Amino acid sequence: MSKVVIETSELMKKYKNGVTALQNLNLKIEEGDCVGYLGPNGAGKTTTIKILTNLIKPTAGHAYICGIDVNKKPKEALRYVGALVELPGIYEYLTPHELLTYLGKVRMMSKVNLNRRIKEVLRTVGIPAWEHKKVRSLSTGMRQRFLIAQALLHNPEILIMDEPVFGLDPKGMKDIRDVIKQLHKENKTVFLSSHLLHEVSEICTKVLLLNKGKIVSFDTVDNLTKMSKTHTIKIELLKPPTKKQIAEIKLIKIIKDINIADGHLGISFDGERNTCSRILTELVSLGLKIVSYWPKSMTLEDIYISIVGEEKGIG
Ligand SMILES: Nc1ncnc2c1ncn2[C@@H]1O[C@H](COP(=O)(O)OP(=O)(O)OP(=O)(O)O)[C@@H](O)[C@H]1O
Ligand SMILES: [Mg+2]
Repeated sequence: MSKVVIETSELMKKYKNGVTALQNLNLKIEEGDCVGYLGPNGAGKTTTIKILTNLIKPTAGHAYICGIDVNKKPKEALRYVGALVELPGIYEYLTPHELLTYLGKVRMMSKVNLNRRIKEVLRTVGIPAWEHKKVRSLSTGMRQRFLIAQALLHNPEILIMDEPVFGLDPKGMKDIRDVIKQLHKENKTVFLSSHLLHEVSEICTKVLLLNKGKIVSFDTVDNLTKMSKTHTIKIELLKPPTKKQIAEIKLIKIIKDINIADGHLGISFDGERNTCSRILTELVSLGLKIVSYWPKSMTLEDIYISIVGEEKGIG
């Protein structure tokens, strides 16, 4: 087993207003992992990330970076971390160069290295021309790029980011996705929260699903899609089914759901290959003329909805 670099043990957060944002969160992220942290609004993602970066303290339990308790020894633990959480408004009147210089000094970077890195990271995130412009003049997307630049400044081993592509245009998203993929290739550990499931399935190797402050699943993207017990097949028919045939299909007990879109019949069922074969046989016996059929692979979005989507409300 690889080295665990981010860990929480029985982590709890109860805010002063009585909201319990995290309940006994236990997670272990290994060196070189690229983990997408998913969950509905109010699930507790930002709360976790704030604790992991010592912006807030847990009510109980512990959070460790490379084995160091981050809320007890923040300076020691956070030197390994580049974080993207939030940028307080007080920096509006400084330029990216001034802010990065300040942050580099706090992070004990040498002056020569710092000047080189400032240019490098602003280039990496695509805003080199904004080095000496005031932060307040940056658009939302440019600010987000700047936030990523500051996280990368000291070339940290671990990146913890809360919604890194938030507010970016499609080109910006692709740029940042490429940056993150490159960092992952360099064996950095990446932990990022997001609502963009296709982004996560493209960038991340593992997915951590959080709901109401609890982990509901943690696995590789591949395993999650394979493990889902619901399967869907798409069927091309010679002629669209009649109303009567649709009613008859709905009566087949082993079918969970049907839909007709783009002239194709979609059938969802719980089970394996033999269930699929039984369904196809039944369809033929109803007089449907099957031209072709193929499995529709589950997307991360399908999995997400099936795990957390059915619960109503927030928190
Ligand atoms: N400072 C705070 N004071 C009181 N309650 C808070 C505070 N911050 C967050 N909460 C509550 O804690 C819960 C978790 O919030 P959190 O921001 O961690 O969720 P999230 O998963 O990041 O959601 P989103 O997807 O909307 O960003 C929510 O119910 C939220 O209302
Ligand atoms: Mg959040």
